[in-house]
Amino acid sequence: MVLDDNAERKLQHIDVVLKENVEGPLTTLLECVHIPHQAIIDAGPEDVDTRVRFLGKELSAPLIISGMTGGAPGTERINAALASIAEEEGLALGVGSQRAALENPNLEYTFRVVRKVAPTAPIIANIGAAEVVKYPPAKVLKVVEMIDADALAVHLNLAQEAAQPEGTPSMKGIIKSLERLILESPVPVIAKEVGNGLSKEVANTLRSLGIKHFDVEGTGGTNWVKVEMYRAMKAGDHVKEEIARNLLTWGIPTAASIIEVRNAAPDAYIIGSGGIRTAVDAVKAIVIGADAAGMALPFLKAYASGRLREFTKALIHSFRMAVLMTGARNVEELKRLKPIITPPLTHWVSARGLKPGHYLTY
Ligand SMILES: Cc1cc2nc3c(=O)[nH]c(=O)nc-3n(C[C@H](O)[C@H](O)[C@H](O)COP(=O)(O)O)c2cc1C
Repeated sequence: MVLDDNAERKLQHIDVVLKENVEGPLTTLLECVHIPHQAIIDAGPEDVDTRVRFLGKELSAPLIISGMTGGAPGTERINAALASIAEEEGLALGVGSQRAALENPNLEYTFRVVRKVAPTAPIIANIGAAEVVKYPPAKVLKVVEMIDADALAVHLNLAQEAAQPEGTPSMKGIIKSLERLILESPVPVIAKEVGNGLSKEVANTLRSLGIKHFDVEGTGGTNWVKVEMYRAMKAGDHVKEEIARNLLTWGIPTAASIIEVRNAAPDAYIIGSGGIRTAVDAVKAIVIGADAAGMALPFLKAYASGRLREFTKALIHSFRMAVLMTGARNVEELKRLKPIITPPLTHWVSARGLKPGHYLTY
């Protein structure tokens, strides 16, 4: 079968992230976040309630499978597997950019499968800022209807577009386009980065447009500039390869980004993501200001190794154990803990006049 460019790119992304080291070189700075361990707790894991509300639905734990795929033949199998585990374990799930299906309806089935397999899980539709600028809201919102989504993530990926061989590294017109989209959207719009993080300035701007959901995706996890660098190398596009090398270390570390957005938007729903690799990372993300944690690459790797179910069950159980060992009995109590932060995160926080945690909320 001849694939169009969007579909071909989607398959190349999966191939690159599974074969190459696409993380770093910057870290999340979650290594600078500490929570005291409580060695004696007069309770067991069954006494910890990890349930939270998200988009009007209940999650068994504040964990989200970040948007990755769909848009090319074969990706419906990955989406079906992710949807099945999300439904079974009570997690939320995002899909990858639905641009391919918007431009070629023959590919809609690669996304629609998610709602078929996960009739009750919170599902997040996904589209790029470039498409929000390019198409009228009614066309963009087809991606919500396509999967009966509970929210629409708009990904902001300027650095990736700059390094992408076929990228469009400009968002001119995004503010007005977003404003119109938010007005017409039947579901909440989530502002989502893809690995370079959201700042307090951006959170302020988005908040003034009415956005209340943020998915920070800071540095330390999948680095999309790096992914595009590998694609440019394979395509022999030396200019794009060099642009990628120039931008590899750009971005806000995930821990700093969570704190930035929480300070700018105390009442927002914040997904802490980008380099969340363990249940402990997820707990730290929540203690410094997130409401939930999102992970992409670890779920894809677990799928590829045939261990998606084991990976997910272990993640949820470890999250429960980590919460227990902080002394909290539920996620609300977890959010009231005061994190200990060490340099260089302390430097970032003081230089930007921020405070870590949910202190503004409580
Ligand atoms: C294979 C793959 C494909 C992705 N495709 C998209 C996408 O289409 N749209 C999007 O917003 N983010 C996409 N992402 C980014 C993730 O949602 C997430 O922001 C990023 O990978 C950082 O999280 P991680 O470090 O846990 O992987 C993709 C990630 C992976 C691994």
